[in-house]
Amino acid sequence: MGTKAIFFLCITCLFCGLAYPHRQLLQDAAAPTIFDVTTFGALSNNDTFDNAQPFMQAWIQACKNSTTPAKVLIPNGVFLTGPTVFGGPCTSPKPIILEVVGTIKATTDPSEYVSPEWVAFEDIDGLVVTGNGTFDGQGSSVWQYNDCRTNPNCVNLPSSLQFSRVNNTIVKDITSLNSKQFHYHLHKCYNFSAWNLNITAPKNSPNTDGMHVGSSDEVNVTSSVIGTGDDCISIGQGTTNVYISNITCGPGHGISVGSLGKRPLDKSVSGISVKNCTFIGTTNGARIKTYIGKSPGEAKGIVYEGLIMDNVQNPIVIDQSYGSKKVRQASVSLWKISDVHFRGIKGTTVSNVALSLQCSVVNPCQGVEVADVDLSFSGTQRNTTFVSSCANTPNATFTGTINPPPCL
Ligand SMILES: *[C@@H]1O[C@H](CO)[C@@H](O)[C@H](O)[C@H]1NC(C)=O
Ligand SMILES: *[C@@H]1O[C@H](CO)[C@@H](O)[C@H](O)[C@H]1NC(C)=O
Ligand SMILES: *[C@@H]1O[C@H](CO)[C@@H](O)[C@H](O)[C@H]1NC(C)=O
Ligand SMILES: *[C@@H]1O[C@H](CO)[C@@H](O)[C@H](O)[C@H]1NC(C)=O
Ligand SMILES: *[C@@H]1O[C@H](CO)[C@@H](O)[C@H](O)[C@H]1NC(C)=O
Ligand SMILES: *[C@@H]1O[C@H](CO)[C@@H](O)[C@H](O)[C@H]1NC(C)=O
Ligand SMILES: *[C@@H]1O[C@H](CO)[C@@H](O)[C@H](O)[C@H]1NC(C)=O
Ligand SMILES: *[C@@H]1O[C@H](CO)[C@@H](O)[C@H](O)[C@H]1NC(C)=O
Ligand SMILES: *[C@@H]1O[C@H](CO)[C@@H](O)[C@H](O)[C@H]1NC(C)=O
Ligand SMILES: *[C@@H]1O[C@H](CO)[C@@H](O)[C@H](O)[C@H]1NC(C)=O
Ligand SMILES: *[C@@H]1O[C@H](CO)[C@@H](O)[C@H](O)[C@H]1NC(C)=O
Repeated sequence: MGTKAIFFLCITCLFCGLAYPHRQLLQDAAAPTIFDVTTFGALSNNDTFDNAQPFMQAWIQACKNSTTPAKVLIPNGVFLTGPTVFGGPCTSPKPIILEVVGTIKATTDPSEYVSPEWVAFEDIDGLVVTGNGTFDGQGSSVWQYNDCRTNPNCVNLPSSLQFSRVNNTIVKDITSLNSKQFHYHLHKCYNFSAWNLNITAPKNSPNTDGMHVGSSDEVNVTSSVIGTGDDCISIGQGTTNVYISNITCGPGHGISVGSLGKRPLDKSVSGISVKNCTFIGTTNGARIKTYIGKSPGEAKGIVYEGLIMDNVQNPIVIDQSYGSKKVRQASVSLWKISDVHFRGIKGTTVSNVALSLQCSVVNPCQGVEVADVDLSFSGTQRNTTFVSSCANTPNATFTGTINPPPCL
């Protein structure tokens, strides 16, 4: 190409930039302005330097002072970081991006965490969190202080990634390792999609739910690998329209709706779908759990479909006596469960009771469908009884292949 041709091209480009301003916008969307935390004083590979301030300063410039689309970059390296808030609303064009390439390591002194979150995203509309990086909560330093098993008023340890009042979010490719308590906690979020997440903590780490969703609407979590010490995903009160698919869960306590009704103001849950997931060596698979409850609530419109159980203890569970010591006593839960479907669930279980539907005496479950559930016993106990157990499920239906045999 001659000099003239290059000159002509440049002039043409200049003109199209002026004549078609939307092309400029498209270019900006493809290449946001980068706010690299190291240019705000962040130091990697330093065991004493807390990067929270440089991270937040980079965020404030990107969110509140950029007129072009902005990306905060955490580059390669290990960045020690205490409690960090990425707050909105942002005035920069949507979405704001946080790209994590390196590892962010939480500080370990629990007294630093005045509210139970490590990295908090708040009041943002249009957020992308991406990168192949890791949030390492360094939970093993504090798991010993978790006494929630014995103390009903236990203090919550921090969640690694807290999303509060954040709308229109994408989270992908990120690893969360050894959270102090929950890995992800969503509260009052709308339109949240996550995929290709890696969530990892030991089997015996306390209350390390992979993702706890509360008071949120339109949440999709797909194509992720979750192995942790509590529920892989738990769907808490006030949540609607959650779609979960292609999750590998284990170790862990399964994918649960609930627990619901612990607090008097707990709101209903509806529109939950869990499809094409695999559970490996988990304590539960598909579970719905409610407390007896202090005021009424409902859990309805719940579909568990196309699940594979691999040596799971309790593959299918409705438990309306959750948190009650007198589990043998019939539940008098004020919570009402209806329109629940367990379809196409196959594989192996290590317990004698593979399907357990224990509903409330005062609010029997309505419209529970069990279809094509084919489980076999792979346990080692001498007791070879292999059964279903149901209480207060007046019009449950069983269709297709059902193993263990239906309880009716
Ligand atoms: C690590 O950070 C401290 C401040 O907390 C600083 O004094 C020290 O020089 C840093 N070390 C290195 C190797 O950068
Ligand atoms: C906003 O950004 C400009 C540069 O883009 C900078 O000069 C200015 O100091 C920033 N304002 C604040 C309040 O940080
Ligand atoms: C998120 O959406 C809700 C309504 O769905 C709205 O009330 C709230 O202000 C929005 N938050 C942000 C940060 O945009
Ligand atoms: C993440 O990607 C960067 C390049 O974008 C690469 O240098 C780094 O090694 C990757 N880290 C991991 C843990 O794969
Ligand atoms: C949900 O959020 C995504 C990502 O920000 C956005 O592309 C999509 O339009 C949003 N959907 C709705 C219904 O607002
Ligand atoms: C979630 O997935 C469902 C079903 O595939 C889809 O209808 C819905 O729009 C998705 N919502 C979000 C927030 O991505
Ligand atoms: C998830 O992350 C952990 C910790 O970095 C790693 O050991 C494991 O191989 C990862 N799993 C997947 C499926 O990427
Ligand atoms: C399921 O998730 C895995 C990651 O765990 C991914 O590699 C695979 O492509 C996903 N499958 C589908 C059909 O989305
Ligand atoms: C689940 O898998 C089936 C069969 O592979 C497929 O047809 C369906 O689209 C998948 N559903 C979801 C939500 O991934
Ligand atoms: C179950 O019974 C209740 C009334 O007792 C009724 O409202 C509901 O439609 C029934 N559901 C099914 C699936 O038969
Ligand atoms: C075998 O297990 C079933 C179901 O848990 C139980 O009802 C039964 O009592 C057990 N039998 C023996 C001999 O332990």
